[in-house]
Amino acid sequence: MSVPQPSRTAWAAHSPMTLIDSAQCEANVCGRSRVVDGVLKPSSGTRWITRADYGKQDFVVEEGFLSAADCGRLADAFRTVHPQTADRKVASDFWDGRIVFMDEVAAHAAETAAVMAEVQRRAAARLSGFYALTRPLYADSVQLNVWKRGSHMPPHTDNAYHDGGPHESHWRDFSSIVYLNDDYQGGQLYFTALDKVLRPKAGMLVAFSAGHHHEHGVLKVRSGTRLTMPAFYTFDASRAYGHVHPELQAAAALEAAVGSMADSTGARLGRLLA
Ligand SMILES: [Fe+2]
Repeated sequence: MSVPQPSRTAWAAHSPMTLIDSAQCEANVCGRSRVVDGVLKPSSGTRWITRADYGKQDFVVEEGFLSAADCGRLADAFRTVHPQTADRKVASDFWDGRIVFMDEVAAHAAETAAVMAEVQRRAAARLSGFYALTRPLYADSVQLNVWKRGSHMPPHTDNAYHDGGPHESHWRDFSSIVYLNDDYQGGQLYFTALDKVLRPKAGMLVAFSAGHHHEHGVLKVRSGTRLTMPAFYTFDASRAYGHVHPELQAAAALEAAVGSMADSTGARLGRLLA
């Protein structure tokens, strides 16, 4: 029997998502071709999103989402924990040595991990309100990332590949990034299909849908070090990150325990009846 897939259309009739086509289009192809080795060659239509434009986008841009004190606290936590995790391998060479997960922060400082969890919950609430979502969103990962000088990321979506090949995070429906600093050069966010560039500011929240409409890349960091707190969201509760959604883990453990008790009672009954 096949496992039922969660709905990918869990929003109200007035949601901006009704105007968003997550499929790949020609604008994605053109946008990707403008980014070579992390450097954007703007088209005549490329637009830089200014402060006056933040509220006019079909994705969330919110200044001052995280206070300077909390940005500093999370950046300090990254610098403290990162040396202990730098040799830990993740699923991708690109990210090896660049991620500290929330549970790793928790092992160092539970209060700081609690700040991350609260930031993630607030970001999910913003996404839910902005896109008029009708079902809960679950974070599948909350991290701190480092982007050193010279690093960049080619345009990509967070749930699909350009060639339609199987994506390792295909369940993701939305993404958010909170920027912890802005004392670096480069590192802008470029949206291919929109042909728009955003220069993140410290404390800013940017959040968007995971499909091709919001395909995005990070332009090359020319100097300094860029620190971010990304999180990824899904309607699929089975993909929830246990450190953010312990209630789901507890429910799953209870369900497993009840199942196991039922199995053992059934087996005992079977022996009695045999
Ligand atoms: Fe991404």
